[in-house]
Amino acid sequence: MQRDWPFPAYPNGWFVIGYGDEIERGEVRPLEYFGEPLVLWRDEQDAAHVLDAHCRHLGAHLGHGGRVDGPSIRCPFHAWRWRPDGVCDDIPYAKKIPKGAQLRSWPVCERNGFLFLWHHAEGHEPDFEIPVLAEYDSEEWTDYTRLSWTVKSRMYDMGENAVDHIHFKTLHGASGAPTNEQRRNRDGTFSNLSQMEMTTPKGPVKGSIESSGVGPGFGVVHVYGIAETIILTTNTPIDDERVHVRFSYMQRRTDDPHEQRVGEAMLRDLKHQMEQDIVIFENKRYWTRPLLVKEDGPIGEYRRRSRHWYSGEFYRLPEE
Ligand code: FES
Ligand SMILES: [Fe+2]
Repeated sequence: MQRDWPFPAYPNGWFVIGYGDEIERGEVRPLEYFGEPLVLWRDEQDAAHVLDAHCRHLGAHLGHGGRVDGPSIRCPFHAWRWRPDGVCDDIPYAKKIPKGAQLRSWPVCERNGFLFLWHHAEGHEPDFEIPVLAEYDSEEWTDYTRLSWTVKSRMYDMGENAVDHIHFKTLHGASGAPTNEQRRNRDGTFSNLSQMEMTTPKGPVKGSIESSGVGPGFGVVHVYGIAETIILTTNTPIDDERVHVRFSYMQRRTDDPHEQRVGEAMLRDLKHQMEQDIVIFENKRYWTRPLLVKEDGPIGEYRRRSRHWYSGEFYRLPEE
Protein backbone atom coordinates (compact mmCIF):
# COMPACT_ATOMS: atom_id res chain seq x y z
CA MET A 1 0.00 0.00 0.00
CA GLN A 2 2.69 2.49 0.98
CA ARG A 3 6.34 1.99 0.27
CA ASP A 4 7.72 3.73 3.33
CA TRP A 5 5.32 2.41 5.93
CA PRO A 6 7.43 2.03 9.09
CA PHE A 7 5.12 0.00 11.32
CA PRO A 8 3.86 -3.56 11.38
CA ALA A 9 0.26 -3.48 10.15
CA TYR A 10 -1.31 -4.55 13.42
CA PRO A 11 -0.80 -3.20 16.92
CA ASN A 12 -1.13 -5.30 20.07
CA GLY A 13 -4.12 -5.02 22.38
CA TRP A 14 -7.88 -5.46 22.73
CA PHE A 15 -10.00 -4.68 19.68
CA VAL A 16 -13.75 -4.53 19.21
CA ILE A 17 -15.12 -7.21 16.89
CA GLY A 18 -18.78 -6.37 17.42
CA TYR A 19 -21.52 -5.54 19.89
CA GLY A 20 -22.48 -8.33 22.28
CA ASP A 21 -26.14 -8.21 21.23
CA GLU A 22 -25.26 -8.96 17.61
CA ILE A 23 -24.78 -12.63 18.41
CA GLU A 24 -27.23 -14.81 20.28
CA ARG A 25 -26.71 -17.96 22.29
CA GLY A 26 -26.00 -20.86 20.01
CA GLU A 27 -25.18 -18.61 17.06
CA VAL A 28 -22.07 -18.92 14.87
CA ARG A 29 -20.57 -16.16 12.73
CA PRO A 30 -17.72 -15.84 10.24
CA LEU A 31 -15.44 -12.86 10.87
CA GLU A 32 -12.37 -11.34 9.33
CA TYR A 33 -9.94 -9.25 11.36
CA PHE A 34 -6.14 -8.93 11.42
CA GLY A 35 -6.08 -10.42 7.95
CA GLU A 36 -7.34 -13.73 9.35
CA PRO A 37 -10.56 -15.61 8.65
CA LEU A 38 -12.09 -16.27 12.09
CA VAL A 39 -15.11 -17.93 13.60
CA LEU A 40 -17.08 -16.42 16.48
CA TRP A 41 -19.71 -18.31 18.45
CA ARG A 42 -21.71 -17.82 21.62
CA ASP A 43 -22.14 -20.99 23.66
CA GLU A 44 -25.17 -22.07 25.69
CA GLN A 45 -23.64 -20.55 28.83
CA ASP A 46 -23.48 -17.19 27.05
CA ALA A 47 -19.69 -17.09 26.65
CA ALA A 48 -18.32 -15.91 23.30
CA HIS A 49 -15.32 -17.62 21.69
CA VAL A 50 -13.11 -17.03 18.67
CA LEU A 51 -10.91 -19.51 16.79
CA ASP A 52 -9.10 -19.45 13.49
CA ALA A 53 -11.81 -20.29 11.00
CA HIS A 54 -10.45 -23.19 8.99
CA CYS A 55 -10.85 -26.70 10.32
CA ARG A 56 -7.53 -28.57 10.54
CA HIS A 57 -9.15 -31.64 9.00
CA LEU A 58 -10.05 -30.74 5.42
CA GLY A 59 -10.25 -27.00 5.77
CA ALA A 60 -13.95 -26.16 6.02
CA HIS A 61 -14.76 -22.70 7.38
CA LEU A 62 -16.34 -23.23 10.80
CA GLY A 63 -18.18 -19.90 10.51
CA HIS A 64 -20.27 -21.15 7.60
CA GLY A 65 -22.51 -23.87 8.98
CA GLY A 66 -20.62 -24.78 12.16
CA ARG A 67 -22.85 -25.81 15.10
CA VAL A 68 -22.50 -24.95 18.77
CA ASP A 69 -22.14 -28.06 20.95
CA GLY A 70 -21.86 -27.26 24.67
CA PRO A 71 -19.03 -24.75 24.93
CA SER A 72 -17.52 -26.03 21.68
CA ILE A 73 -18.15 -25.86 17.95
CA ARG A 74 -18.65 -28.70 15.49
CA CYS A 75 -17.41 -28.46 11.94
CA PRO A 76 -20.19 -28.62 9.31
CA PHE A 77 -18.12 -30.89 7.02
CA HIS A 78 -17.26 -34.08 9.03
CA ALA A 79 -18.40 -32.98 12.50
CA TRP A 80 -15.04 -32.76 14.27
CA ARG A 81 -15.57 -30.87 17.53
CA TRP A 82 -13.33 -27.95 18.53
CA ARG A 83 -13.18 -26.65 22.10
CA PRO A 84 -12.89 -22.92 22.92
CA ASP A 85 -9.17 -23.46 23.63
CA GLY A 86 -8.79 -24.74 20.07
CA VAL A 87 -8.29 -28.43 20.89
CA CYS A 88 -10.23 -31.06 18.96
CA ASP A 89 -11.82 -33.44 21.48
CA ASP A 90 -14.18 -35.50 19.37
CA ILE A 91 -14.20 -37.10 15.93
CA PRO A 92 -17.51 -38.96 15.85
CA TYR A 93 -16.40 -41.66 13.37
CA ALA A 94 -12.80 -42.21 14.58
CA LYS A 95 -11.18 -43.87 17.59
CA LYS A 96 -8.10 -41.70 17.71
CA ILE A 97 -7.63 -37.96 17.44
CA PRO A 98 -4.49 -37.16 15.44
CA LYS A 99 -1.63 -35.14 16.93
CA GLY A 100 -1.76 -31.45 16.12
CA ALA A 101 -5.56 -31.28 16.02
CA GLN A 102 -5.48 -27.76 17.38
CA LEU A 103 -6.66 -24.39 16.10
CA ARG A 104 -5.44 -21.01 17.28
CA SER A 105 -7.71 -19.68 20.00
CA TRP A 106 -8.10 -15.91 20.46
CA PRO A 107 -8.81 -14.39 23.90
CA VAL A 108 -12.24 -12.72 24.01
CA CYS A 109 -13.60 -10.28 26.58
CA GLU A 110 -17.15 -8.97 26.68
CA ARG A 111 -17.48 -5.59 28.34
CA ASN A 112 -19.54 -2.40 28.09
CA GLY A 113 -21.71 -4.02 25.44
CA PHE A 114 -18.76 -4.88 23.18
CA LEU A 115 -16.96 -8.04 22.24
CA PHE A 116 -13.20 -7.50 22.34
CA LEU A 117 -10.58 -9.70 20.77
CA TRP A 118 -6.98 -9.79 21.97
CA HIS A 119 -4.33 -9.57 19.28
CA HIS A 120 -0.61 -9.82 19.93
CA ALA A 121 1.90 -10.18 17.12
CA GLU A 122 4.15 -12.40 19.26
CA GLY A 123 1.34 -14.34 20.87
CA HIS A 124 1.62 -12.78 24.35
CA GLU A 125 -1.31 -13.13 26.73
CA PRO A 126 -3.41 -10.03 27.57
CA ASP A 127 -1.51 -7.64 29.84
CA PHE A 128 -4.19 -5.04 30.49
CA GLU A 129 -7.94 -4.98 31.00
CA ILE A 130 -10.76 -3.01 29.48
CA PRO A 131 -12.23 -0.92 32.31
CA VAL A 132 -15.94 -1.19 33.17
CA LEU A 133 -17.75 2.00 32.19
CA ALA A 134 -20.13 3.12 34.93
CA GLU A 135 -22.29 4.95 32.37
CA TYR A 136 -22.95 1.85 30.29
CA ASP A 137 -26.23 0.19 31.31
CA SER A 138 -26.98 3.10 33.64
CA GLU A 139 -30.52 4.50 33.87
CA GLU A 140 -29.09 7.98 33.61
CA TRP A 141 -27.58 7.44 30.19
CA THR A 142 -29.03 6.58 26.80
CA ASP A 143 -28.18 3.38 24.95
CA TYR A 144 -25.53 3.58 22.28
CA THR A 145 -26.24 5.21 18.98
CA ARG A 146 -24.01 3.17 16.67
CA LEU A 147 -22.07 4.45 13.69
CA SER A 148 -19.59 2.42 11.71
CA TRP A 149 -17.32 2.74 8.73
CA THR A 150 -14.81 0.63 6.85
CA VAL A 151 -11.88 2.91 6.06
CA LYS A 152 -9.14 2.14 3.59
CA SER A 153 -6.29 3.12 5.85
CA ARG A 154 -4.07 1.81 8.56
CA MET A 155 -4.96 2.34 12.16
CA TYR A 156 -1.76 4.10 12.92
CA ASP A 157 -2.22 6.68 10.21
CA MET A 158 -5.68 7.55 11.52
CA GLY A 159 -4.58 7.82 15.14
CA GLU A 160 -2.73 11.08 14.67
CA ASN A 161 -6.00 12.82 13.95
CA ALA A 162 -6.84 13.49 17.58
CA VAL A 163 -3.57 15.25 18.35
CA ASP A 164 -3.47 17.10 15.04
CA HIS A 165 -5.40 20.03 16.50
CA ILE A 166 -4.91 22.43 13.57
CA HIS A 167 -7.05 20.32 11.24
CA PHE A 168 -10.15 20.84 13.40
CA LYS A 169 -10.15 24.39 12.13
CA THR A 170 -8.77 23.94 8.63
CA LEU A 171 -10.58 20.73 7.64
CA HIS A 172 -13.61 20.59 9.91
CA GLY A 173 -14.31 24.32 10.03
CA ALA A 174 -14.28 24.68 13.82
CA SER A 175 -14.14 28.35 14.68
CA GLY A 176 -10.87 27.90 16.53
CA ALA A 177 -8.30 25.17 16.87
CA PRO A 178 -8.92 23.39 20.15
CA THR A 179 -6.43 23.88 22.93
CA ASN A 180 -4.65 20.69 23.71
CA GLU A 181 -3.18 19.37 26.89
CA GLN A 182 -1.68 15.92 27.33
CA ARG A 183 -1.78 14.18 30.65
CA ARG A 184 -0.14 10.95 31.68
CA ASN A 185 -2.44 8.85 33.86
CA ARG A 186 -1.25 6.77 36.77
CA ASP A 187 -1.75 3.55 34.81
CA GLY A 188 0.62 4.73 32.08
CA THR A 189 -2.13 5.64 29.61
CA PHE A 190 -2.52 9.17 28.27
CA SER A 191 -5.44 11.55 28.35
CA ASN A 192 -5.95 14.46 26.11
CA LEU A 193 -7.85 17.49 27.37
CA SER A 194 -9.08 20.07 24.94
CA GLN A 195 -11.38 23.04 24.87
CA MET A 196 -13.15 23.68 21.62
CA GLU A 197 -16.22 25.15 20.00
CA MET A 198 -18.90 22.87 18.64
CA THR A 199 -21.47 23.69 16.04
CA THR A 200 -25.05 23.47 17.32
CA PRO A 201 -28.45 24.73 16.04
CA LYS A 202 -28.05 27.74 18.31
CA GLY A 203 -24.61 28.56 17.07
CA PRO A 204 -21.22 27.59 18.43
CA VAL A 205 -21.04 26.21 21.96
CA LYS A 206 -17.94 25.98 24.10
CA GLY A 207 -17.20 22.49 25.17
CA SER A 208 -14.42 20.57 26.74
CA ILE A 209 -13.34 17.15 25.64
CA GLU A 210 -11.45 14.61 27.65
CA SER A 211 -10.24 11.64 25.67
CA SER A 212 -8.24 8.69 26.79
CA GLY A 213 -7.05 5.61 25.04
CA VAL A 214 -7.39 2.13 26.48
CA GLY A 215 -4.76 0.47 24.37
CA PRO A 216 -4.56 1.22 20.67
CA GLY A 217 -8.07 0.10 19.71
CA PHE A 218 -10.43 1.70 22.21
CA GLY A 219 -10.88 5.39 23.00
CA VAL A 220 -13.20 6.99 25.53
CA VAL A 221 -14.17 10.55 24.70
CA HIS A 222 -16.12 12.48 27.29
CA VAL A 223 -17.66 15.76 26.15
CA TYR A 224 -18.76 18.36 28.67
CA GLY A 225 -20.64 21.45 27.61
CA ILE A 226 -24.35 22.00 27.35
CA ALA A 227 -24.99 18.33 26.72
CA GLU A 228 -22.91 15.71 28.46
CA THR A 229 -22.01 12.92 26.10
CA ILE A 230 -19.62 10.01 25.77
CA ILE A 231 -18.31 8.72 22.49
CA LEU A 232 -16.54 5.40 22.45
CA THR A 233 -14.30 5.16 19.44
CA THR A 234 -13.01 1.78 18.44
CA ASN A 235 -10.72 0.81 15.59
CA THR A 236 -10.02 -2.72 14.48
CA PRO A 237 -7.83 -3.71 11.53
CA ILE A 238 -9.66 -5.91 9.04
CA ASP A 239 -6.47 -6.49 7.07
CA ASP A 240 -3.40 -4.38 6.33
CA GLU A 241 -5.39 -1.98 4.17
CA ARG A 242 -8.72 -1.61 5.96
CA VAL A 243 -9.88 -0.58 9.40
CA HIS A 244 -13.30 -1.09 10.92
CA VAL A 245 -14.20 2.08 12.82
CA ARG A 246 -17.13 2.20 15.22
CA PHE A 247 -18.46 5.20 17.16
CA SER A 248 -20.82 4.44 20.00
CA TYR A 249 -22.49 7.54 21.28
CA MET A 250 -24.37 8.01 24.54
CA GLN A 251 -25.85 11.04 26.20
CA ARG A 252 -26.87 11.72 29.78
CA ARG A 253 -30.67 11.53 29.79
CA THR A 254 -32.35 14.87 30.08
CA ASP A 255 -35.86 16.33 29.95
CA ASP A 256 -34.54 19.51 28.42
CA PRO A 257 -35.37 19.37 24.69
CA HIS A 258 -32.69 21.95 23.95
CA GLU A 259 -30.03 19.78 25.52
CA GLN A 260 -31.32 16.79 23.55
CA ARG A 261 -31.08 18.73 20.31
CA VAL A 262 -27.56 19.87 21.13
CA GLY A 263 -26.61 16.24 21.65
CA GLU A 264 -28.18 15.23 18.34
CA ALA A 265 -26.44 18.09 16.55
CA MET A 266 -23.11 17.06 18.04
CA LEU A 267 -23.64 13.55 16.77
CA ARG A 268 -24.36 14.85 13.26
CA ASP A 269 -21.29 17.04 13.47
CA LEU A 270 -19.18 14.12 14.57
CA LYS A 271 -20.39 11.97 11.70
CA HIS A 272 -19.72 14.77 9.25
CA GLN A 273 -16.20 15.26 10.64
CA MET A 274 -15.49 11.56 10.29
CA GLU A 275 -16.60 11.66 6.66
CA GLN A 276 -14.27 14.60 6.05
CA ASP A 277 -11.42 12.73 7.75
CA ILE A 278 -12.06 9.59 5.70
CA VAL A 279 -11.37 11.42 2.44
CA ILE A 280 -8.01 12.44 3.88
CA PHE A 281 -7.22 9.04 5.41
CA GLU A 282 -7.99 7.08 2.25
CA ASN A 283 -5.77 9.20 0.06
CA LYS A 284 -2.97 10.40 2.30
CA ARG A 285 0.59 9.23 2.39
CA TYR A 286 2.56 8.49 5.51
CA TRP A 287 5.78 10.47 5.63
CA THR A 288 8.39 9.03 7.93
CA ARG A 289 9.77 12.54 8.28
CA PRO A 290 6.95 15.02 7.78
CA LEU A 291 7.74 18.71 7.62
CA LEU A 292 6.25 20.17 10.76
CA VAL A 293 6.01 23.69 12.15
CA LYS A 294 6.01 24.75 15.76
CA GLU A 295 2.23 25.31 15.84
CA ASP A 296 1.36 21.75 14.75
CA GLY A 297 0.08 19.46 17.45
CA PRO A 298 2.23 17.02 19.42
CA ILE A 299 2.60 14.71 16.45
CA GLY A 300 6.17 13.62 17.14
CA GLU A 301 5.24 12.81 20.70
CA TYR A 302 2.22 10.86 19.54
CA ARG A 303 4.37 8.83 17.15
CA ARG A 304 6.91 8.04 19.84
CA ARG A 305 4.25 6.97 22.27
CA SER A 306 2.35 4.83 19.78
CA ARG A 307 5.31 2.57 19.14
CA HIS A 308 4.61 1.09 22.50
CA TRP A 309 1.66 -0.79 20.95
CA TYR A 310 3.64 -2.45 18.18
CA SER A 311 6.04 -5.34 18.06
CA GLY A 312 9.09 -5.05 15.84
CA GLU A 313 11.77 -2.62 14.78
CA PHE A 314 11.32 1.05 13.94
CA TYR A 315 13.30 3.76 12.25
CA ARG A 316 14.63 6.50 14.51
CA LEU A 317 12.66 9.70 14.84
CA PRO A 318 14.75 12.84 14.17
CA GLU A 319 14.43 13.99 17.79
CA GLU A 320 15.91 10.77 19.19
S1 FES B 1 -13.21 -30.30 7.38
FE1 FES B 1 -13.86 -30.03 9.39
S2 FES B 1 -14.41 -31.99 10.03
FE2 FES B 1 -13.67 -32.29 8.03
FE1 LIG C 1 -10.60 14.87 12.16
